[in-house]
Formats: sequence, structure tokens, C-alpha cells
Amino acid sequence: MRFAVLASGNGTNLQAIISAVKSKKIKAQLGLVVSDKKKAYVLTRALKAGIPVTVVDPKKFKTREAFDKAVIRELKDFKIDFIVLAGYMRILSPYFVKAYKGKILNIHPALLPSFKGAHAIKDAFDYGAKLTGVTVHFVDEKVDHGPIILQEPVIIRPQDTLKTLESRIHKLEHKLYPKAIQLFSQGRLKIFGRKIILR
Ligand code: GRF
Repeated sequence: MRFAVLASGNGTNLQAIISAVKSKKIKAQLGLVVSDKKKAYVLTRALKAGIPVTVVDPKKFKTREAFDKAVIRELKDFKIDFIVLAGYMRILSPYFVKAYKGKILNIHPALLPSFKGAHAIKDAFDYGAKLTGVTVHFVDEKVDHGPIILQEPVIIRPQDTLKTLESRIHKLEHKLYPKAIQLFSQGRLKIFGRKIILR
């Protein structure tokens, strides 16, 4: 199985995935990193690890679907079997989701369905929640919504700052995402509606 990581930012999750591939905790091949931002640090991380990268610039496309079609062309060129979103700051078009149904994973820094959206850690912190966490899920047509693969809690301590909370959440992400990717690539996740059964 060969997978691609789609990312827009810093790429700490990509880094954890690269380490897991190297140490064979993930027994699938990381064949491509795609970004919509040519200056994203995630590209530097990929290149340092010798992974092919490609940038697809959204400004060059009139619609989300046209952009996604260009991304899909890249995925096909690199013979990608499944997709891992890691801080990819774009909503996938229904066309994209349909093309890779059940083959797109995402990580979200909160306990879904709580605190959806792009600022989940800050939102939970500002809300005064006592508990948040990390969710790895399949991507469906709705944002932060698909069936949950793995989910673990992080307690928000009274002395936490946004920074200390972020750091514990990211640490958990870096543990959970490689685990979920390995389970998926070994064909161990069976989807029954919203429920995922581990085989
Ligand atoms: C992570 O917190 C992830 O949960 C969210 O975006 C962030 C990406 O971080 N979807 P990084 O680029 O992997 O460091």
C-alpha cells in the first residue's frame, strides 16, 4: 500500500509519520506529500526525508473541484492507494471524497463531535472544557464528521496555558496517527455505518 500526506503547514504530524515508516511501525510506503502552500515547512521536512513533493496552487483553479481534480491527477501519477490529511487546510470537494471513499484519514485535535473547525484546541481551552483530546477519523462529505477510527482524551489542567495544552495534544497526535495509519494499511479497519470494528 502506498499513501500520500496532504498538508498545508508545519508538518509535525508528517514528521511523526516519516519516523514511523522508517522504523516500520507503519508498513506502508509514503509515496508523496502534496501541499496547497508552496512555502509550507511540511515540504522541507518531506524533501529532507527524500519523499517526493508536489504543490498544487489553488489560485490557478476556478473551482474547488477543478483544484481537487488536479490533486487527484498527482495522486494517480504516483499510484497512491490512500490519503492522510495532516493539517490540510482545505475542505475536500464531494468529487474528491467520492473518488477515495473510505480511503481518506484525517486527524482532529479535539474529541469529535465537540469542537469542530480550524481552532479546536483554542476553542476547547477558551470554553473552559475540562477534557479534550485527539480524534482520527475517516473523511466523508461533511467537515470533521466521518466514522471515528481512534480517539483519546487529554485532560485540561487548571494550570494549563494554551501552549502547554497544545503541546500535550500534539504529542498524542504523533502517537495516534501512525497507529491509525498502520491499522488502515493492514486492512484491519472495517466500517459499519459510523462504527469501526478492529479486525
Ligand atoms: C494538527 O493539530 C492537526 O490535528 C490539525 O492540524 C494540525 C497540523 O499540525 N488538523 P502539523 O502541521 O502536523 O504540525
